Amino acid sequence: PKSQGFHNVPNTDFSLAPARAELAAALDRVRQKLGRDHPPVIAGKALKPAAWITSTNPAQPREVIGRWGRATPADADTAIAAAKTAFPAWRDTAPAARADILERTADLMVARRHDLSALIILEAGKPWPEADGDVSEAIDFCRFYAQEMRELARPRLSQIVPGERNTLQWIPRGIGVAIAPWNFPLAILCGLTVAPLVAGNCVIMKPAEQTTVIAATLFDLLVEAGLPSGVVNFLPGFGEDVGAHLVAHPDIAFIAFTGSRTVGTAIWETAGHAWPDQRHLKKVVCEMGGKNALIIDNDADLDEAIPAALYSAFGFSGQKCSALSRLIVLDAVYDTFVERFTAACPSLHVGNPADPGTIVGPVIDAEAKAKIEGLIATGRSEATLAFQGDSPAEGWFVPPTVFTDVKPDHAIAREEIFGPVVTIIRARDLDTAFAIANDTDYALTGGLFSRSPAALARAQREMEVGNLYLNRPITGAIVERQPFGGYRMSGGGTKAGGKGYLENFLNPRAISENV
Ligand code: NAD
Ligand code: ALA
Repeated sequence: PKSQGFHNVPNTDFSLAPARAELAAALDRVRQKLGRDHPPVIAGKALKPAAWITSTNPAQPREVIGRWGRATPADADTAIAAAKTAFPAWRDTAPAARADILERTADLMVARRHDLSALIILEAGKPWPEADGDVSEAIDFCRFYAQEMRELARPRLSQIVPGERNTLQWIPRGIGVAIAPWNFPLAILCGLTVAPLVAGNCVIMKPAEQTTVIAATLFDLLVEAGLPSGVVNFLPGFGEDVGAHLVAHPDIAFIAFTGSRTVGTAIWETAGHAWPDQRHLKKVVCEMGGKNALIIDNDADLDEAIPAALYSAFGFSGQKCSALSRLIVLDAVYDTFVERFTAACPSLHVGNPADPGTIVGPVIDAEAKAKIEGLIATGRSEATLAFQGDSPAEGWFVPPTVFTDVKPDHAIAREEIFGPVVTIIRARDLDTAFAIANDTDYALTGGLFSRSPAALARAQREMEVGNLYLNRPITGAIVERQPFGGYRMSGGGTKAGGKGYLENFLNPRAISENV
């Protein structure tokens, strides 16, 4: 039975011709169906939206992916009312029945994984393996949280005392909102939505503006898997109006958020306010950005370190919160490393992600491109541009870019760039390298390449990150295996895909019975 043990779904092996043929066919199939309308859906009913917003392909912006209906704050109130109506029955639905629905969602995603990947390639601009990994993570979230809920629901005695039965129960918090970013358009929105759902809460999905068609597809899958009307509601809209309105609403009991530091800290602050008609403290799951460092020790195996650094920095064009942004290289190996790293950069094929050979695709939109190009201009004024690749003229492309002679106080060494740009910083010794790595507001991912057991042990004690990677790339956390999330300004210390995550969406109740 499914409840016995969780196993990660394997990624597709695109070195096999049949797998490549399947995704190529899915791209054709999905392209035939582009251009549809995706309205907000509340309590199972599609709304007539205030406006339609067009979503386009970042690699070829003339290609329309679809249109989504922009929900208003008044629609958010309607969604909250619908979720409140649906809540009692969902709260009282057996946890195992709720878990079944997540497992059915996972099965549907497995059956349609290439169609989902194709849509992610077209709407988010992810290269093939990255899109496929996004789908795997979404499947894993559904199955893992389903299993976790089955576990939590098992009655357990807290202490055996004669004459007294002491148990702990987990009860859902109520109505909440999942506010997601565009960079893991399926997986993160899925995780933020299904974790509170399986815990017995009702959820309003507020997807990222850039990837709303993927979000609408996920919503349809959840409904097809059996989620009742009103338990999950689809509310696409702009963050600053409908998102902010939901966060501030007194009936919202929790906010499951992943996104930027600016938005996350604003949400944290707003959620801290208790309105006179509010009956709970709001729980905020807040996952934000990073400025992630990888240290290259004097004795590092550069044959391993260079591909790992390339992948960590440039995979999905550096648009992962986990992406490598600061390469901190020890003095004795600095010149060799820079020479070999920059010599390897031209191997990063930049192009349309629909092409299976593409390693670096576009960035998400014109605004992101302008922001990254602004930071590259800053980098040119403060450091040395050691490498810049080529990129297609059409689409929101930024070429892979490497800066050397970067000082820890340079803007490009401090701000999250969220693009295909990596900075290389020289460090005198390991003490200095750890100090530079930790000298940031963020604490998300980080790593060390070293052959020295003592250095690897020091990294485990001293590197201030939520996910530490030793002698391997610093991105690509896998559900349950590497629970993901940071602290400091990277987040509230919650671990997506890890034990204990579901408790964020539950209240514990201790029951003591005289027997
Ligand atoms: P963003 O903060 O701009 O948007 C995220 C979501 O918040 C969107 O749905 C947006 O509409 C909504 N939003 C915007 N303003 C809002 C407001 N005032 N109130 C409520 N909601 C609002 O982030 P993004 O550009 O979509 O994503 C990129 C960021 O996400 C990067 O900083 C990245 O590091 C971070 N991220 C973090 C993790 C993690 O697990 N720590 C994972 C992925 C992405
Ligand atoms: N969970 C994603 C990773 O680890 C962000 O790369």
